[in-house]
Amino acid sequence: MSRPGIRAAGNVLNLKPELWDSHFLRACRGEATKRTPVWLMRQAGRYMQHYRGIRSGRSFLDLCKDPALASEVTLYAREWLDVDAAIIFSDILVVLEALGLPLTFATGDGPVLGKPIRDGAAVVALRDPLTAAKDLGYVHEAIRRTVTGLPADIPLIGFCGAPYTLAAYAIEGGSSRQFAHTKTFMYRDGGAWNALLARITAALIPYLNAQIAAGTSCVQVFDSWVGHLTRADFIEFVQPHLRTLVAGITPGVPVILFGTETSHLSDLIAACGADVIGVDTTTDLSATWERCGGPTRIAVQGNLDPCLLLGPRERLLKAADVVLAAAGGRPGHIFNLGHGVLKETDPEQAKALVQHVHARTTR
Ligand code: CP3
Repeated sequence: MSRPGIRAAGNVLNLKPELWDSHFLRACRGEATKRTPVWLMRQAGRYMQHYRGIRSGRSFLDLCKDPALASEVTLYAREWLDVDAAIIFSDILVVLEALGLPLTFATGDGPVLGKPIRDGAAVVALRDPLTAAKDLGYVHEAIRRTVTGLPADIPLIGFCGAPYTLAAYAIEGGSSRQFAHTKTFMYRDGGAWNALLARITAALIPYLNAQIAAGTSCVQVFDSWVGHLTRADFIEFVQPHLRTLVAGITPGVPVILFGTETSHLSDLIAACGADVIGVDTTTDLSATWERCGGPTRIAVQGNLDPCLLLGPRERLLKAADVVLAAAGGRPGHIFNLGHGVLKETDPEQAKALVQHVHARTTR
């Protein structure tokens, strides 16, 4: 089972010409653009005063579950930064909550998932994937509201966590450095492992397709921690599930696959059917592109180190030029960071970066 690449599919969603021909969607298809599109992973968040104002007095999850506020946060960041795409404000972990794992975000500690999954019985006890996807209707409602507030030529990106990264959170019960529980589970009980990833994937496919039906015209799959695996483990334990996920996504919608520290896996990730490969800071953008088939086959997104936003302006803009030089003006480059905006970032630095990329690349 596979899905026609975005270049072959055509405008099957019947997007309006302004959206279809937007810088961002053209770049996803590997077409030439009048300037390099740019957006920033985690562009809406704690580094912005507007976000902190809306967030104060409520929990992060309450904010995610309020479609009017989630939409406002999304639209504000998009407009203030003047980026070429919006990404819906939510989190990858809401899917695990919908599958039945209690989720909390403790201040300073990151996410906590109660009832971590440590055996096959816990996988069987997860909620039905279709019911889980339906319970995420608040995300779909936030998307419907957001697309009505966006300029006609600005796409909205939907997203989810990848099967591996979500399984890792479910098994560890939160963030981890070594992923020891995850790997132990994987090596010890391949049957339960595959059942868990299949269950997560079965929730992700209807969840993403409902995001698309609600108005997102691109989706990004965050496989944040898959870079901790060897090639052999990726092929055995992850690739079949990632392929199934991508194959299940509505044809004609570009799929961006992103993971950190995945330079040793990029060709395998691309082979899962990605239209765009997200490149992290530690990975060479140009070499990755060539390894994944070059610009005639795939687009690339990345990869400025988010820490550069914390440093002097001159160094930041020079480093942006280095990323642009690595892309070399080839069609199909989407400028982004190599990972999310850090909360210590001065928003003016982010805005200056966006302006700089636009000015440097206007053709
Ligand atoms: O990019 C955007 O503007 C959209 C929003 C978005 C969030 N999380 C909001 C968020 C997206 C795309 C994500 C994805 C996400 N969430 C990932 C994949 C991306 C990556 O960074 O690799 C992961 C691993 C998560 C899980 C997650 N959510 C963690 C580890 C944390 C804690 C981080 C921290 O610094 O405390 C979150 C919380 C989270 N997700 C916040 C935001 C704005 C901070 C919440 C708050 O306190 O207000």
